Amino acid sequence: MPENSTSGYSRYPRIGSHREVASFREHLHSLCADIPVDDAILPAPESPLARDLRLCGKVASNRWAIQPMEGWDGQEDGAPAELTLQRWRRFGLSGAQLIWGGEAVAVEAEGRANPNQLVIAGNTLGGLGALRQALLDAHRERFGAGGEPVVGLQLTHSGRYARPSRDGGGRPRVAFRHPILDKRVGITGEEAVLSDGEVASLTGSFVTAACRAGELGFDFVDIKHCHGYLLHEFLGAHTRPGPYGGSFENRTRLLRDIVAGIRRDAPGLPIAIRVSIFDTIPFRPGPDGNGGVPEKVPEGAPYRWGFGVDMANPTEGDLSEGKKLLGLLQELGIELVNLSAGSPYYNPHLQRPALYPPSDGYLPPEDPLESVIRHLQATHALKREFPGLVITGSALSYLQDYLPHVAQGLVREGWMDFVGIGRMALSYPDLPADTLERGVLARKRICRTFSDCTTAPRHGLPSGCYPLDDNYSSLPEAETLRELKKNGPE
Ligand SMILES: Cc1cc2nc3c(=O)[nH]c(=O)nc-3n(C[C@H](O)[C@H](O)[C@H](O)COP(=O)(O)O)c2cc1C
Ligand code: SF4
Repeated sequence: MPENSTSGYSRYPRIGSHREVASFREHLHSLCADIPVDDAILPAPESPLARDLRLCGKVASNRWAIQPMEGWDGQEDGAPAELTLQRWRRFGLSGAQLIWGGEAVAVEAEGRANPNQLVIAGNTLGGLGALRQALLDAHRERFGAGGEPVVGLQLTHSGRYARPSRDGGGRPRVAFRHPILDKRVGITGEEAVLSDGEVASLTGSFVTAACRAGELGFDFVDIKHCHGYLLHEFLGAHTRPGPYGGSFENRTRLLRDIVAGIRRDAPGLPIAIRVSIFDTIPFRPGPDGNGGVPEKVPEGAPYRWGFGVDMANPTEGDLSEGKKLLGLLQELGIELVNLSAGSPYYNPHLQRPALYPPSDGYLPPEDPLESVIRHLQATHALKREFPGLVITGSALSYLQDYLPHVAQGLVREGWMDFVGIGRMALSYPDLPADTLERGVLARKRICRTFSDCTTAPRHGLPSGCYPLDDNYSSLPEAETLRELKKNGPE
């Protein structure tokens, strides 16, 4: 990794440099004293992470969740390929009892974020069913019969970030014109904005997809409302006229219509929502090797182009509408919620805290541990207010060696019900099993947030942990990635 004394790489203490939990705790508590940190990794049954919880008609016997992790490695027709199967097998070997959606699967081919994203359609059902089966088979081989994990499927439309064709060009479809993001994705006219009629037809695509997922045996469907993709954008459609924009009621109409359609056509299928519960104005690279900086608020502030953004001070999130949304989910009988934040496209430091930025990102504008803390505090506040919701927390991989120490405390003290792991599940998928069975970690496999798994797909390469996983470091694409990184940000 490049080291530059003026850059963010060396500005903040590296987590791996803390040889003792006490030193890590001091670092963490210098930023926020409330976060619980256990002294040691506790194996089952002592670990709070080994507590069970009834979910979707099953009993999850631990509190580890694998976050959805897309691999940019499906076939051209939207069906999974070998690398996809391998990733899902590993999810099964992880020991985590909640598999939150596997990866984002597009409900329409045009809604793919890349030409290798999975699509749920008549021709791909066999492949998607095989993914679920591969995961369950791997779990059974490793852990024996019984205790099957709860496995959902995440359904999405990529909206502003739709890039379904091989020519590499984007085909963005948006909820509203955005004064900063439009130029980043090449939107120059109104034709990119979905008409009300198109929105109604999209509702049908989500409902059909959910029914198909239920028929394939998935335990729940996650209707993805995060990371700047289409349904997340609708939550922030303050400036859109008509039935899907403006008031909170209008901005949640699409969500409510999709839920009503699924309840009608697939009664009994549990519905889950992953949502970016807070957000900020987009960021861009800072000058002279400094960390990323927020874009200027467009003329005519307040800032009205996001969900969970403080309109008067858009470099900060605001949980007030997030609380209204969770209240609505509760009214709708949706119990399973996964809290994320921001977007990997316009504020990656918020969404996936990292010391080393992806090639289209920027150096961290704050100690990435602060970015983790922001997630934890929001999740804690919301769990306290909505104790009846089953909440999975996000953005914890940056805790690295001390992820289990913090995770145990968070579950024991009720900050969240499930501890989600994203990037860590690529570099070290069986971390949950290692903690619960042996109470130790394999240091060499710990994700160090090098961001290759984000940089690779930005250049059309499959995503995976190139630095730490031999299956990826031996791919021909690894050399291409090395070349690309030489020209990384700053
Ligand atoms: C390569 C990659 C692919 C991802 N794919 C998805 C996805 O398909 N759906 C989703 O909701 N989040 C996706 N995410 C976000 C992760 O689920 C997670 O929220 C994020 O990495 C922060 O958690 P972590 O700190 O444990 O990595 C992806 C992240 C990465 C790095
Ligand atoms: S490439 Fe590997 S080490 Fe780097 S962020 Fe992704 S999972 Fe972590």
